[in-house]
Amino acid sequence: MGIRFNQVSYDYSSFAQGLYTAIKDINLEITEKHEFIALVGHTGSGKSTLAKHMNALIFPTSGNLEIFGHLITAKRNKKVKYNDIRKKVGLVFQFPEYQLFEETVEKDIMFGPMNFKITKEEAKLIAKESLNLVGLDDSYLLRNPYNLSGGEKKRVSIAGILAMDPDILVLDEPTSGLDPAGRRVLMDLFKDINEKTGKTIVIITHDMDLVYQYFNRVLVMNDGHLVFDGTPETLFRETDMAKHHLDYPNTIKVLNYLNQNLGLNMNIYQKTNEAALAEIKKAAII
Ligand SMILES: Nc1ncnc2c1ncn2[C@@H]1O[C@H](COP(=O)(O)OP(=O)(O)OP(=O)(O)O)[C@@H](O)[C@H]1O
Ligand SMILES: [Mg+2]
Repeated sequence: MGIRFNQVSYDYSSFAQGLYTAIKDINLEITEKHEFIALVGHTGSGKSTLAKHMNALIFPTSGNLEIFGHLITAKRNKKVKYNDIRKKVGLVFQFPEYQLFEETVEKDIMFGPMNFKITKEEAKLIAKESLNLVGLDDSYLLRNPYNLSGGEKKRVSIAGILAMDPDILVLDEPTSGLDPAGRRVLMDLFKDINEKTGKTIVIITHDMDLVYQYFNRVLVMNDGHLVFDGTPETLFRETDMAKHHLDYPNTIKVLNYLNQNLGLNMNIYQKTNEAALAEIKKAAII
């Protein structure tokens, strides 16, 4: 089942700018089984708009979506159980401020699970476990989310979605604003959840190093269009990334630079620094 976009377009309308078409004619299928997908694209390319469709937070202006069997069209349909959709597809917003609203971290994370007919004690336990999963200790439970740092807010908003245990997780730039160690911890957590539970995880990111190292499917947005859907390997080998206003991973850039300037012929398609270093050693220039 999962999520299927059929010819979806979405217009924002504002008094100042009139209509602005943010995503155009999107056809896309995301299954609920074990996918680990990166969604990339230049600023303003439509990634967040696409993500907001995935749990019916916004409705397409034209075209339709099928989300776990529910048909989503431009019009709100009384028969569609939107709560069911939100339970199946969890969306972590790009800006955690929009997601956090309770007076303590604990209450915030408990909010979702409390809708699922469980006891307060059970919800508290889930809140604590989810918080620990994202790398924050129990001392955060009674703190006010408003007073947390950007990175801490981000982690709490992720914990809130993990606590709901959805089948598909959609995370809008979950690692932006985190320090490099924090970024790795979270990426390892997402990969771990994906591997152990088989849940599908969609992650919006600008970090091509992460895309190359962690993902097996990547979607590229450019000016509202979905212009690529395939493996990172194919994307970086066969696409002119500049055409999409995007960069290559650092390993590819560095190895290519060395090839060009030292007349070498190294295989530039190395995913990690370690692999790149091994390739350089093989070329015996160090
Ligand atoms: N509420 C809104 N009203 C009008 N236009 C909007 C609104 N929200 C987004 N847009 C426009 O729609 C386009 C797509 O926005 P979106 O937030 O989906 O991009 P994005 O790819 O997530 O960008 P970023 O990488 O900066 O987060 C942008 O040009 C943006 O200016
Ligand atoms: Mg965005």
